[in-house]
Amino acid sequence: MEMHTDRLVLRDYTVDDFAAVHAFASDPRIATFVDWGPNTEHDTRHFLDTCVTSQTVLPRTEFSLAVTLPGETPLGSVGLTVDEQHHGHLGYVIGAEHWGKGYATEAAACLLSYGQEALMLERIEATCRPANLASAKVLEKIGMTLEGLRPNDKFVRGTWSDSLVFVVIRN
Ligand SMILES: CC(C)(COP(=O)(O)OP(=O)(O)OC[C@H]1O[C@@H](n2cnc3c(N)ncnc32)[C@H](O)[C@@H]1OP(=O)(O)O)[C@@H](O)C(=O)NCCC(=O)NCCS
Repeated sequence: MEMHTDRLVLRDYTVDDFAAVHAFASDPRIATFVDWGPNTEHDTRHFLDTCVTSQTVLPRTEFSLAVTLPGETPLGSVGLTVDEQHHGHLGYVIGAEHWGKGYATEAAACLLSYGQEALMLERIEATCRPANLASAKVLEKIGMTLEGLRPNDKFVRGTWSDSLVFVVIRN
């Protein structure tokens, strides 16, 4: 699977992406507001193995895509998971040295459109921690609406954390 935006190519991972993925996923800066990482090498291998396996499942329910500049190695990741209710769950991470260039917005908008138009998902949700202002901004910029706050939604590194819930409903 491969999709193009103005600046980016979103494509399926291969195991050859290990070094580039591990470079951003093992960076402590990206783990502040997510419930995974910083990755060990084993974590990154497991992530890539899971991605590659999910590409062959039909119907496909996991769309973890490498965010790349044309011809370059991954600089981040964007993902859409379809649950048993046929609802989508969107997420993303961008390598810290590339923050603030609009890449998360561009990649997430593209996968959101794919979920709505190609997969015909009625509801797509994304969550972020209330303190993750950059992520909340991305979700607003791609047209998602703040639905509410889910208290004590995630237990991360020994602490319960609230989530802001953003949604987009297909008309
Ligand atoms: C969240 C994340 C994906 C954003 O990636 P990015 O490529 O820098 O995002 P964009 O450049 O598309 O947009 C970020 C927006 O947030 C804004 N922003 C960044 N830091 C901010 C802050 N501390 N307060 C308010 N706004 C902030 C930027 O100015 C930008 O908005 P603008 O275009 O109106 O100027 C990136 O910071 C990241 O990977 N973080 C770690 C993993 C993570 O938190 N993932 C999301 C889990 S919910």
